[in-house]
Amino acid sequence: MSTEPQSLLLRLDAVEQAARDIRIFRFKPANGGTLPPASPGAHIDLEIAPGMTRQYSLVDLDPSGSTYSIAVQRQPNGRGGSESLHAQATIGTEYRAHAPRNTFPLSERQGESVLFAGGIGVTPLLTHYNALRTRGEAVRLFYWARTSDAFLHHATLAADPNVTLYATEEMTAPRLEALLPDIDPSAQLYCCGPVRMLEAFNRATADRAADCLHTEYFEAPAAAPGTCSAPFRVTLARQNRTLEIGAEQTILDACLAAGIDVPYSCEEGVCGACQVRVLEGGVDHRDTVWPAATHERESTMIICCSRASGDSLVLDI
Ligand code: FES
Repeated sequence: MSTEPQSLLLRLDAVEQAARDIRIFRFKPANGGTLPPASPGAHIDLEIAPGMTRQYSLVDLDPSGSTYSIAVQRQPNGRGGSESLHAQATIGTEYRAHAPRNTFPLSERQGESVLFAGGIGVTPLLTHYNALRTRGEAVRLFYWARTSDAFLHHATLAADPNVTLYATEEMTAPRLEALLPDIDPSAQLYCCGPVRMLEAFNRATADRAADCLHTEYFEAPAAAPGTCSAPFRVTLARQNRTLEIGAEQTILDACLAAGIDVPYSCEEGVCGACQVRVLEGGVDHRDTVWPAATHERESTMIICCSRASGDSLVLDI
């Protein structure tokens, strides 16, 4: 059963224009002290305004525990979170947040790691890259952005022989698929970027071992055509209650409508906040937080989008 991460009050301490349309926002604990630790690939939930909570990967990890830093790309056609931060955030403003959660951790396995980043998707991969370099492990980073001025840490990364930058509007850049044949089948592969890039990564790596593949989505992919949503029944074991889930309803919706307090954040199956343990029943996994095989191994599901594959489930809620 997922537990609600610690609630925090953060104060915006610094803002830096880090690349074209990308700013790095640095937050400190509003009331002093140290922040909960974060591991490479972790993200925080930041409440930008009432009813507007967004997930942002940490772009670097501060071992002293005094700062969380996020890189935010301005997205005029987005859902408003990045626009609001870029246009309105002022130094000293306080924000509610949740302690870091990690749905994109580094593998424990040894061997080369290869990181594929598209645009702002580089943020969690930078913490992976730095951690692997610090550990002395072999790592390469391939990073696509539209123009040279759109890369985070451009000067540093451009000088790093383990990093390859592709400015797609300025050069003939290879597609991710073209790089894979030269990468050892046992390498750990990590990918974060636009949905199209992740879908290409999934297709191109379909013949590789699942435990070598790691992805993080920032937005939910479109539902597959023909995806159907039949009604089913959920028993909440600890509440000793049973809820009927309608065809157009999620388990999360039904819990909230019944006054049952469960953690959640993105409501899109990308952040992992609403993960629960499955006690009985089959699940049609529809999230991008973890592969279905991981959910099956851990007996977990994401209740804001995944559904019963049969007519009932028993959950540890
Ligand atoms: S609320 Fe984010 S995955 Fe369900």
